Amino acid sequence: GSILVLNGPNLNLLGIREPQTYGRETLADVEALCRTAAAKAGYEVEFLQSNHEGVLIDAIHAARTTMVGIVINPGAFTHTSVALADAVSGVQLPVIEVHISNVHQREAFRHHSYISAVAASVIVGAGTNGYVLGVEQLIHLVGR
Ligand code: DQA
Repeated sequence: GSILVLNGPNLNLLGIREPQTYGRETLADVEALCRTAAAKAGYEVEFLQSNHEGVLIDAIHAARTTMVGIVINPGAFTHTSVALADAVSGVQLPVIEVHISNVHQREAFRHHSYISAVAASVIVGAGTNGYVLGVEQLIHLVGR
């Protein structure tokens, strides 16, 4: 089994975008962190970023039969997308929601997440280490 690590809109700009909020590490750095954390337990990672809601939904659907679970940072779709939450419910895979920043210290519109209600676990404000924690927590849930 493999772990799908999904990143939503604007996370391709990680390291460049608002570094005071999201830090200097790039998405390639995050990918390396995820692969290392997963490899410790013998898991591989499929890593995907998209700015398009439908591409993320298609990836969640495809994961149903190929992945043991999903670690997802849905970016701003967290706060807007019923469709993404429905996709997560639909596939019945364990999903760990990750946010680099502590969304609860930020604007009120970032305090609500449609994904949290369908996520097994939520990790916020741990910086890019949140992805490592997310991968570790997913492995804890699915075993080995
Ligand atoms: C984010 C928080 C969201 O509110 C924001 O839209 C993002 C990144 C985070 O990782 O902290 O794009 O998901």
